[in-house]
Amino acid sequence: MTQERPKILIVDDVPANLVVLRKLLAKVPADIISASSGNEALALALDHEFALVLLDVQMPEMDGYEVAEWLQSEEQTRGTPIIFVTAAYKDDVHRITGYEAGAVDYIEKPIEPAILLSKVGVFLRLYQQKQLLADALHQLESLNENLEQRVRSEVHKNLEQERILVQQSRLAAMGEMIGNIAHQWRQPLNALGLLLANIKDANDFGELDTEQIENSVAKGVQLIDKMSTTIDDFRNFFKPNKEKATFSLRKAVQDTLEILAATFRNNNIAVQVEAEQDVVAFGFPNEYFQVMLNILNNAKDAMLSHEMRRGEIRIAITRCGEQAEVTIRDNAGGIPEDILPKIFDPYFTTREKGTGIGLYMSKIIIENNMGGHLNVRNVEDGAEFSVTCPVGEGNA
Ligand SMILES: Nc1ncnc2c1ncn2[C@@H]1O[C@H](COP(=O)(O)OP(=O)(O)OP(=O)(O)O)[C@@H](O)[C@H]1O
Ligand SMILES: [Mg+2]
Repeated sequence: MTQERPKILIVDDVPANLVVLRKLLAKVPADIISASSGNEALALALDHEFALVLLDVQMPEMDGYEVAEWLQSEEQTRGTPIIFVTAAYKDDVHRITGYEAGAVDYIEKPIEPAILLSKVGVFLRLYQQKQLLADALHQLESLNENLEQRVRSEVHKNLEQERILVQQSRLAAMGEMIGNIAHQWRQPLNALGLLLANIKDANDFGELDTEQIENSVAKGVQLIDKMSTTIDDFRNFFKPNKEKATFSLRKAVQDTLEILAATFRNNNIAVQVEAEQDVVAFGFPNEYFQVMLNILNNAKDAMLSHEMRRGEIRIAITRCGEQAEVTIRDNAGGIPEDILPKIFDPYFTTREKGTGIGLYMSKIIIENNMGGHLNVRNVEDGAEFSVTCPVGEGNA
């Protein structure tokens, strides 16, 4: 920032004195502005910022002390240093009055040029340093403001990214879900098809009677009910929980397996659940279900990519103190050590059609939202995921 040339106000009711002062100050690097009365001085002081005021004490109407007092009382001029220019006094009474009014120094008449210049020089330097300090402060403030703004916009960007990720993971999960629904529906759809074909056959051969129609309708309604339950099941799972609740881990695992049952059966994947006792956990059950679904789907994907003839998944439910733990172990060959540290990163995937956010979202759900841990390690012939979360009330 460029510094303005400092200004000095000189105040004296005798024009000749002003001329003398002006001459003496000719070489000082400042603009000299003069006032010939206290009133004029005050008006100027409100219009300009002065580095220093050289103030004659004895003036008619308003003397130097009054001017000084007034300058002291105004917020805008309070910090401006004043040098009283006064006749020599025998005692210090006036000097003390001057200091009380805010004077910073005295110069006696007749003015000794060297003394005047050295005092004025000191105050000018002080003023310039004060300006520099104010500039630095100003710069610091605007830097600070910039920084705050940048932090705010970064935070905003992060939130936005998080939101997009959540959205994408929902879509990806929906895709999986539709695949699973398709599997679940295949069997009842086939059965419905058979039912209709039977009715047509019976009709063709003239064997259709009321009893058969009623039986077929009852069976059809049953099948449709089953299909509709599947949809309800999925829908419930996809509603995010608003409040934490206690839930049974055994039930969470069983519900997940039920939904995957058809997919697993078609891909020849066997699941074994070991739970000596049920464990009650505390958190968001529907989100927890999504985590289970992600991990189990990943195991299935790994098995498919290895074209395994028989996949095996072992799930264990245990309680370790205040932690409720579910481990899911597969036999799909494990995760290569070099990618192991990356699998929880957003968008990390080794699958051609993968989005790479399944495990990332799972980690956020378990660790950030539920206060638990989601870890992975390689075991003999596969990977083992461990999901822990706080236990809830009602455990045996
Ligand atoms: N059980 C597992 N066995 C071997 N590799 C696994 C297993 N689980 C996860 N991975 C690896 O971790 C990667 C990331 O998994 P993640 O679920 O985050 O994404 P994805 O399955 O690739 O895609 P999507 O977001 O559609 O689920 C997978 O691509 C795979 O390489
Ligand atoms: Mg996945």
